[in-house]
Amino acid sequence: TDIKPFANEPFTDFSQPAHREAMKASLERIKQQLGRKIPLHIGKEHVFTDEVITSINPGQTEQTIGLVSKANQPLAEQAMQTALNTFEQWKKVPASERADYLFKAAALMRERKHDFSAMMIMEAGKNYAEADADTAEAIDFMEFYAREMLRLARINETQPLTPVAGEQNQLTYIPLGVGIVIPPWNFPLAICVGMTTAAIVSGNTVLLKPASTTPVIAHMFVELMEEIGLPPGVINYVPGSGAEVGDYLTTHPKTRFISFTGSKEVGLRISKLSADTAKGQIWIKRLVAEMGGKDGIVVDETADLDAAAQAIVASAFGFQGQKCSAGSRAIIVQSVYDEVVRKVAELTGKLSIGLPQDNYPIGPVIDQASCDKIMSYIEIGQSEGRLLTGGQRAAGNGYYIQPTVFADVKRDARIMQEEIFGPVLALCSAADYREAIDIYNDTEFGLTGSFFSKDEQRITEALEIMHCGNMYINRKCTGALVGAHPFGGFNMSGTDSKAGGHDYLLLFTQAKLTSRKL
Ligand code: NAD
Ligand code: ALA
Repeated sequence: TDIKPFANEPFTDFSQPAHREAMKASLERIKQQLGRKIPLHIGKEHVFTDEVITSINPGQTEQTIGLVSKANQPLAEQAMQTALNTFEQWKKVPASERADYLFKAAALMRERKHDFSAMMIMEAGKNYAEADADTAEAIDFMEFYAREMLRLARINETQPLTPVAGEQNQLTYIPLGVGIVIPPWNFPLAICVGMTTAAIVSGNTVLLKPASTTPVIAHMFVELMEEIGLPPGVINYVPGSGAEVGDYLTTHPKTRFISFTGSKEVGLRISKLSADTAKGQIWIKRLVAEMGGKDGIVVDETADLDAAAQAIVASAFGFQGQKCSAGSRAIIVQSVYDEVVRKVAELTGKLSIGLPQDNYPIGPVIDQASCDKIMSYIEIGQSEGRLLTGGQRAAGNGYYIQPTVFADVKRDARIMQEEIFGPVLALCSAADYREAIDIYNDTEFGLTGSFFSKDEQRITEALEIMHCGNMYINRKCTGALVGAHPFGGFNMSGTDSKAGGHDYLLLFTQAKLTSRKL
């Protein structure tokens, strides 16, 4: 009743010394906690295992963030049984009570906002603003999905159905069962919290398998949920290897749904494995899979070229290009191509590289494997385009890579087609805006895109024909806000689940129709 309408959590302005100091204090506080052994959470039990995942700071690789217990198949099975048992009670908890847990958790996370951000600065290599936005989004997801559950509960009471004389009919959205939640490392708090809380507020119980490079921040969230009194067994925390625990749970007969965000390769594997029916399985598993992108910005000759160049650089290099929404391509109309290329190179050259905790604009990429992959794409880029800036590893005791721009890249080049997930930008010229849009559309992905122009007719046309889930005009293609920009992509970018939108919770429910003869 006294719940305010949803509003996005404001971002912190770190140009103010007081806010910078507050973040430094949080970084000091979090440093004191590093290197801890972290248990699995299976119901009430905290299980420590001998085998651990060692989470390290990618910007300072000798620093251990945490030693995270690792589930094997028997522990995953124990977690599944716990989640199944808990579901029998949790599904009966009134929606408003389930929503209250999210409101409480959001309030407490807001109080400790910089602590959560500080952990991401250390574990994921985010700078202050990127970490702050991640925490703000996590808070937003909880505030938003709590309200969405209340709305769904009202719909359950009042869904208009065609009246039939002598009948009382009602449609109710009920939960599904036990879900497996598999988030990526790149929004290690926001996406983990969003996927998990959407599933549980809808009445399901879950097994949360965090990404192996960022399990400690995920655990901070699990501890928060425990602290606010979420019943044990609703969220079970089971870090583990994708191949071992991931496949086991994906193919488990009692898994009712899988909520996945990550790469196309893993998403398609889960899609295939989960489509098979295991012995004893009595449903078709539901799969929500949000996957990669090869997003881009199209610039025509009428555009504000300074604004376009700034957006290209921000979209390509924010969090080192490690966003599904990252604008790793820019397609620029020929008559302004050279000018935009010059501006992009200049802005990119100004980006300094260094330790995330010292808040450099560019930090490290996530791990050695990722670093190797990105460097191999830079090698490929050398033969597919003209290196404008970057192209090398950067100094530092971590996985630092210079922001790299290739110009004059052809539309079918690998660096125009494949997701690199690092600080590598390909620039391509087009005869006119129509050809530019055609090049934009020419990938298997379809997540985010942006069109820069001052021509209203062209904008209308671009809105219609650029084929992507999140289409922006005259702004960067990253930074979707919960509630304002429901997020999800087309084609190989996934199932277009629109996280942070009004349809999202329906993915974790099934509708039951009841008809009563009067
Ligand atoms: P990833 O696919 O390597 O891993 C994602 C998750 O899947 C991790 O938790 C990982 O441990 C798990 N996993 C790996 N193998 C598994 C298996 N066989 N079974 C079950 N789980 C398994 O992706 P990543 O490197 O963590 O994240 C980067 C990718 O995520 C990029 O492709 C990016 O575009 C995508 N992404 C998409 C969105 C979106 O909303 N569309 C958002 C963020 C990231
Ligand atoms: N929601 C994130 C963005 O839009 C991925 O950048």
